[in-house]
Amino acid sequence: MKILPLVYNNRFYVLISSIAVLIYLCIFEYLWAEDVPPNSPMIIVSSYFHYISDSTIGFQAVGFSKCRNRPESWALLLGERRYPISLEYLQFACPNSMGCIWVDYRLTAELPFDVDLNQPTVLVRDDSETKIEITASQPQKRTKGLDICVAPIYYYNFWVRIVEFVELYRQQGASHIYIYVSSASKLVDDMLKIYEKQGLVTVVRWPELPKVDGTTESVFRLGQHAAMLDCLMRSKGRYVATVDMDDYIFTRHQNLVEYLEDEERKNPNIGSFEFHMVHVAQEPREANLTDWRSIDFSGLLQGDMCDKCYGNFKAIHIANRPVFVGPHNAGRYYRRPGFLGALGWQYEEFLVPKSVGVSHHPRYAARRHELDFKGVQPFLSKEMVNGISRKFTSVMEEFSKTHPNLTAPPVAERMMGCNPFNPNACQVPYVTCRNEMRNVDHWIFANESSHLLVL
Ligand SMILES: *[C@@H]1O[C@H](CO)[C@@H](O)[C@H](O)[C@H]1NC(C)=O
Ligand SMILES: *[C@@H]1O[C@H](CO)[C@@H](O)[C@H](O)[C@H]1NC(C)=O
Ligand SMILES: *[C@@H]1O[C@H](CO)[C@@H](O)[C@H](O)[C@H]1NC(C)=O
Repeated sequence: MKILPLVYNNRFYVLISSIAVLIYLCIFEYLWAEDVPPNSPMIIVSSYFHYISDSTIGFQAVGFSKCRNRPESWALLLGERRYPISLEYLQFACPNSMGCIWVDYRLTAELPFDVDLNQPTVLVRDDSETKIEITASQPQKRTKGLDICVAPIYYYNFWVRIVEFVELYRQQGASHIYIYVSSASKLVDDMLKIYEKQGLVTVVRWPELPKVDGTTESVFRLGQHAAMLDCLMRSKGRYVATVDMDDYIFTRHQNLVEYLEDEERKNPNIGSFEFHMVHVAQEPREANLTDWRSIDFSGLLQGDMCDKCYGNFKAIHIANRPVFVGPHNAGRYYRRPGFLGALGWQYEEFLVPKSVGVSHHPRYAARRHELDFKGVQPFLSKEMVNGISRKFTSVMEEFSKTHPNLTAPPVAERMMGCNPFNPNACQVPYVTCRNEMRNVDHWIFANESSHLLVL
């Protein structure tokens, strides 16, 4: 008789708490529906099949998205088979640490090595299916060559440096150079076309994103993380450098490619070679470059260097090893093959000793008074500088015939004014510099966006 009220009570509490849970769920659902809007559209720039290991092929799509707050399910449909897809932000968080609300991301799936890649490829998101074109398929391991990837340039007009940069890496044994171009002066654009015609350079047109939600301008530096991942996937070399137009990686006593091959042989765990960045101050060389025969490269023989003021690195990656890359290093590495399988060690970074090679950062806009320059030190070798000069002369003999006005109006200071680096602000040059830069030079914008898929 004493137990009954208790059971009764328990039933009562169960009832009350069930009702409470129900009410809570209704409120939660209501709040969820109110506060979390449907995920906004996303943009896919390119997609790839790539080698991961002898038993796994990767699928990867690179793109941009506003932060995705609602759960959604993704899959890749390849013929009849369905593979789960995961989404990862390339700057680790959305919004990223600088507050950009559009961020670079990748969609990835892993496929068995014997999958037939020559079938229609379909992306499935929740209930909707979209057929996609594969930009490039490279399921085989990459075995040789060094490719150079240059992050998107914008409002770039120092055409002399195109020759300097390309010839510097050509001499060091680069197989191919991919230059991502968002906007450049007519002279730079035409100079790039010469190198494209030679077959050494591929210009990847990297357009401003279409206005989706009216907010796509909020992508950090035109999406340099996505561009570098795109280049890692697109390029064909075993080694891939991810640099800017003012990063001159240079090994002192041995050819760069031979050095990479030798070091990899000694240490098969290397995922990326990290080169210390060293600032090199240079005198401004912009403005009136009409008398091109008077342009000389002897300033590259030595430079006023500051090797303590920038504790950062530029990387050359072994192509199939990083999962994704950023401007200075890999985001993550795949695991090395071995008996531990999924529990095994990852590939790792290798710090290149400064005595072997560094990444020079020659800047004419360097603010000497703000940096601790150490005084003049040797920079490029005489052979290298002479080689650059000779190539420059032969290119310019033709180029100057069709380009009588070789002026490059100064832009570096203006760009530092309207586009300063600030760790707490999303850098969006086309918003903050458009008016400032509009009439400074004859700009060509990458504006072809038919390959972009808005989902
Ligand atoms: C540029 O320099 C050349 C010779 O070096 C000179 O003849 C020309 O007038 C200059 N042009 C401008 C716009 O200053
Ligand atoms: C040469 O080009 C610059 C910049 O594009 C321009 O400001 C200048 O007026 C041009 N000079 C001549 C002589 O056309
Ligand atoms: C794209 O750029 C090219 C070269 O600057 C220009 O001729 C063309 O009109 C532009 N197209 C659009 C749609 O803006």
